[in-house]
Amino acid sequence: MKYLIFSDVHSNLEALQAVEFYARSRKIDAYIFLGDLVGYNASPNECIQHIQKLTPIFMVRGNHDKAVSGQEPLQSFNPIAAAAIIWTRDTISTQNKLFLMGLKKGPQEINKEITICHGAPYDEDYYIFGPFDAVEAFYHFSTKLCFFGHTHLPRIYIKRNNMVEEILIEKDKFQLKIEKEARYLINPGSLGQPRDRNPKLSFVIYNTTTNKITFHRLSYNLSQTQSRILQAGLPSALADRLALGI
Ligand SMILES: [Fe+2]
Repeated sequence: MKYLIFSDVHSNLEALQAVEFYARSRKIDAYIFLGDLVGYNASPNECIQHIQKLTPIFMVRGNHDKAVSGQEPLQSFNPIAAAAIIWTRDTISTQNKLFLMGLKKGPQEINKEITICHGAPYDEDYYIFGPFDAVEAFYHFSTKLCFFGHTHLPRIYIKRNNMVEEILIEKDKFQLKIEKEARYLINPGSLGQPRDRNPKLSFVIYNTTTNKITFHRLSYNLSQTQSRILQAGLPSALADRLALGI
């Protein structure tokens, strides 16, 4: 079984299209999406429509999905993020808003091996930023693997014999062999707004036959995404940050 796992698309159509194109020739059996389909960038309707074509797909909601569909107040967002949420609310169709409202709250166990969540397995909005957060998170899921997003930073946390190790993914391609006795928390990074100073989109592929998880970074048509942001009248900082990967 080959899973393509991605998070934090944030209305970036060009990034989503680039991954779709990449996946076409790689025999992906299922997709897993970890939340935040909308917010920040300028193609919410297109991204909602595209993601529904990736089947089968397992999904949870993110905080921006909740805010856009009226399930979370704007107070917890910075002014630029809030401006994009208000713009997205005014832009998406009723049908697409209903789709966002129907996204499930994490964590979700998609099978006996894999749990998925947006933030942390004990709180969908909590950020796992380091090993101390990860230590706590390991107590809140029972599967071997938990995939999470929200921070937009590609990371691995490995738990062996009550010790947690953090691995920062700094290369454009990185492969992890799954060990028999270990458990894992894995963040695939962000598709639509990477924040590790690498502007390339980020995702992972989990191959259950080889027992390997591979982190990938790909270039995409970033200037088109920036043009859409500016044409939509969204804050220009949202276009600038994409090129910097922040
Ligand atoms: Fe996000």
